[in-house]
Amino acid sequence: MNGTTRSLAVGALLTLGALSACGGSKTDAGRSSQAAAESPSGAAVASAEITPEAHQQAQQIFSTRCAVCHGAEGRGDGPGGAGLDPRPRNYHDTAWQDSVTDKEIEQAIVYGGAAVGRSPAMVANPDLGSKPAIVAALREIVRNFGKEK
Ligand code: HEC
Repeated sequence: MNGTTRSLAVGALLTLGALSACGGSKTDAGRSSQAAAESPSGAAVASAEITPEAHQQAQQIFSTRCAVCHGAEGRGDGPGGAGLDPRPRNYHDTAWQDSVTDKEIEQAIVYGGAAVGRSPAMVANPDLGSKPAIVAALREIVRNFGKEK
């Protein structure tokens, strides 16, 4: 009896997850942390584990929100960053990669640059506060730029 109820619930959650993955980020902004906790990924794994869905959404977020300043390749050369002082840094800089912790990267993304002693021009992304897997996936994107030449 319980088993049936559970698999129905999981099925409904998977459907929800598939819909939100296609729905873009706009409608996600108002969703509560409860919705994030109930996401299909959250049901099976630790909340900050990077699922394929989170990775995909993070890539979409990076190209729509972040690349304008940080550049599509993370070189800090996006048009929105050109007039800023300091400029967004080059993520391929391994000395910077070594100097920063995963936590600082994640906090800069959610709370903005000022929260971690960087430029306030780095905007906060409060809607991601309830989406640790997506934040972790964005952090991974930042880290992976540092592994490329
Ligand atoms: C309006 C331009 C702008 C946008 C949009 C933007 N950033 Fe930034 N970002 C900056 C600037 C400027 C800095 C600060 C550089 C400094 O203080 O050295 C920064 C810093 C950071 C840092 C801290 C790294 C460091 O410099 O130590 C991370 C991580 C980061 N951004 C990730 C992102 C992600 C991910 C997004 C998209 C969700 C994003 N940023 C969107 C401009 C921007």
